[in-house]
Amino acid sequence: MKKLAVLTSGGDSPGMNACVRAVVRTAIFNQISVLGVRRGYDGLVEGDFIPLETKSVSNIMQRGGTVLKTARSKRFETKEGMTQAYHKLMENQVEALIVIGGDGTFRGAKEFNSLFEFPIMGCPGTIDNDLNGTDFTIGYDTAINTVVQAVDKIRDTAESHDRLFIVEVMGRDAGLIALRSGIGVGAEAILIPETNRDVSTMLQRLERGRKDKSSKIVIVAEGDEAGGAFAIADIIKKKMGNVYDVRVSVLGHMQRGGSPSCMDRVLASRMGFAAVEALIKGRKSEMVGIVNKDIVYTPFSQAIKHIADLNPDLLRMVDILSL
Ligand code: F6P
Repeated sequence: MKKLAVLTSGGDSPGMNACVRAVVRTAIFNQISVLGVRRGYDGLVEGDFIPLETKSVSNIMQRGGTVLKTARSKRFETKEGMTQAYHKLMENQVEALIVIGGDGTFRGAKEFNSLFEFPIMGCPGTIDNDLNGTDFTIGYDTAINTVVQAVDKIRDTAESHDRLFIVEVMGRDAGLIALRSGIGVGAEAILIPETNRDVSTMLQRLERGRKDKSSKIVIVAEGDEAGGAFAIADIIKKKMGNVYDVRVSVLGHMQRGGSPSCMDRVLASRMGFAAVEALIKGRKSEMVGIVNKDIVYTPFSQAIKHIADLNPDLLRMVDILSL
């Protein structure tokens, strides 16, 4: 292999830059030249490529976002778009591709592989941590720490005013950000899309809960079936508006930004390094993951099967610790 390309796709996540850096430097160490694809699969379709050298990835490790930019490409979902992307890769003598992104990214890679025999390896970059085949995805650790810092601040004002706050965090399909950060901030209730009994459980908890607690924090994942923070606030106001002074805070995209944590930088470096070595060894159509500290490879078709890997013990623990 003489040349590979690397792209970031889907929602950005802190640590993507560290992963790009690892890909570029591992490839160059192995005498493989690298093209960066700008704006994800959109850039692949258009042939928006830039040569990346060792120096091009200096000083990017600590930066949030992605220097390659990203997109959720509609064109790459079509056969025409994929064919055009394939031609762009051929015209530029690219022999392999590394994609850094989440389930949409790997779904695209899998489809592309069903049309063309082209070596692709994936690195899991998403704050959602919702991929099969890795304990953690790049960006998740930073995102949950961002949430914890924000909610600690909300707790200060909630405590001063004796208020109940509903805090909405990201996670369209997955409640892992809500669950972990909720445990980290000592939330009184956590509502996630993977379970559908949490509104009634929350109401029971609020009814039975200690009245001497002056602040209460309810964390809700944006994808929860109850309809998000404002809908839940309405339910609480209707049932217990005389007991609680309710406020809503939607954290939004601030959760995707910021300098990556050390854990995300190391995770991203290991994954980028492993993805290049895997391509050199002839592996393809797989996502690199780390499970129990070891590098593992999971076919794209398995990686995108969203696992509701919610340890019931964690939910039980939340019930007890938040009393
Ligand atoms: O996939 C990551 C994610 O941040 C989800 O948690 C969220 O639902 C979605 O992206 C938001 O996407 P967008 O930035 O396109 O609104």
